[in-house]
Amino acid sequence: MLHLSTLITRPVLAALALATVSAVAVHAEDAKSDPALANSINKDDKTSESEPELLKKNAAVKVEDGKYLDAEGHPTFHITDNGKKLDWYSYSGYRRYHAECHVCHGPDGMGSTYAPALKDSLKHLSYEEFIGILVGGKQDINAAEQKVMPAFGDNKNVMCYSDDLYVYLKARASGAIGRVRPNEKEDKPEAAKKHEKECMGS
Ligand code: HEC
Repeated sequence: MLHLSTLITRPVLAALALATVSAVAVHAEDAKSDPALANSINKDDKTSESEPELLKKNAAVKVEDGKYLDAEGHPTFHITDNGKKLDWYSYSGYRRYHAECHVCHGPDGMGSTYAPALKDSLKHLSYEEFIGILVGGKQDINAAEQKVMPAFGDNKNVMCYSDDLYVYLKARASGAIGRVRPNEKEDKPEAAKKHEKECMGS
């Protein structure tokens, strides 16, 4: 004998399962294509060396207090106005980089005879690896000439802005910005002001 209950529940459950799957898919798609989070980069800027895969991987999926986050929850950049306008952290990172890092790593992350091009290093370095190197430094003991990346763990001018440095260099590595001197930027978020005050102890 056929049970009426099986006849009804099977298709209903299948339909429910399908509905759930498509609802999730649509939701993920929405997050990715949110126009407010999309980058608008200057495709004509040859100095940016655009990397479509990395632009996709590092795309922001949400924003919290002016800080953009990628799908893994790590900080990321947000470039708008045809490459002219930077989110606050990328802009701050640009300034910090040119104050603390460029003497060895060259302007715009281009590298020097002494230290590697960070616009290339950040193509593969993860957030955790980057912060680890910043805190503890790095030394190639096999190199004929001793080249040392200093440890910045005790340097507040660097460590209080580690996320800023990271997102600026990720933007360079992805080709979201070229060798530009940014002037337009998003407003400094309240969260950034608070963090700076607490971190710098001023
Ligand atoms: C005194 C020179 C000097 C300064 C200043 C300096 N670095 Fe370095 N950095 C180096 C050298 C040299 C290396 C290569 C070390 C090695 O691989 O052995 C390096 C390596 C790195 C690496 C690893 C790159 C890779 O491909 O593995 C990162 C990331 C990095 N530096 C970030 C920074 C940041 C961010 C700043 C600024 C806050 C900075 N560095 C300031 C000299 C410097």
